Amino acid sequence: MFQSDLLRDKRILITGGGTGLGKGMAERFLELGATVYICGRRHDVLESTRAELDAKFPGLIHSTVCDVRQLPVVEEMIETIWSRGPLDIVVNNAAGNFLARTEDLSAGAFEAVIGIVLMGTVNVTMAAGRRWLRSAHSGTVLNIAATYWHTGSAYVVPSAMAKAGVVALTRSLAVEWGNRNIRMNAIAPGPVPTEGAFSSMLPIADLEKIALTRNPLGRFGTIAELANLAAFLVSDFSGYINGEVVTMDGGEWLQGAGEFGDVGRLVTEEQWQSIKPKKKTK
Ligand code: COA
Repeated sequence: MFQSDLLRDKRILITGGGTGLGKGMAERFLELGATVYICGRRHDVLESTRAELDAKFPGLIHSTVCDVRQLPVVEEMIETIWSRGPLDIVVNNAAGNFLARTEDLSAGAFEAVIGIVLMGTVNVTMAAGRRWLRSAHSGTVLNIAATYWHTGSAYVVPSAMAKAGVVALTRSLAVEWGNRNIRMNAIAPGPVPTEGAFSSMLPIADLEKIALTRNPLGRFGTIAELANLAAFLVSDFSGYINGEVVTMDGGEWLQGAGEFGDVGRLVTEEQWQSIKPKKKTK
């Protein structure tokens, strides 16, 4: 689908790049010629991903331990990266989320999720953005939102609040920084199986089955599909796309939104026949 040098000479930071979608995007961007920096909280996980990808793409993958909630640590990471050369692209992928009844959540639970998803995105975007603006360097930010950013969602309220904020940031800065060649976009993914997301979001087997049956395509998304969409959105081929949120969920959220969306699953062939208008006899 892509030219193999699509991202050649691009220097890309992916937060939460040690696992799941972040790791998938890192590998795809490397295949397309980029130099990739990944960060995350766990040293062992990051080092194992770095070593795995370095074996395939020697010298092009770097890793730093960084909790995106901690501004001084983010600043230090960005400064170290910049000392070797400016980034061209930032992918804010790091996330925290869990399924819970909202009345059971402590203030700390809200702070943890909003801190990672919203403030982490702010911290990294501002650290890179200020440097781009100071040096008149172009830049692209891709934020990973969620399909419920505009509807909200029961049982993941801190995440829904934070993802809405991430999209507000995306669209606001798309306008404010667009005139200085900084593009801001987001992807709103539906369910894509990764160890981290599925263990925390679909911890009960029946929930996974329900998630499958309520998807018009009858399947989950793949990491490759997400990584290819991300590659397009960070590449120069999407140069006129700015402030956009691209939904990638097989039509899942629309299935839930349309008043009659469930009819196809519930009504039997016999029932369809019974509600058909009867042919008039002359
Ligand atoms: N239900 C309710 N509250 C929870 C919870 C759950 N499943 N998991 C954590 N919390 C609360 C904790 O009780 C704590 O609250 P407190 O400060 O009042 O005691 C608060 O959240 C922070 O938890 P802690 O484990 O100390 O935070 P952390 O910063 O290490 O972890 C999380 C961050 C909470 C997001 C954790 O779930 C995580 O790291 N997840 C892995 C990444 C992930 O979720 N990816 C999402 C893929 S979609």
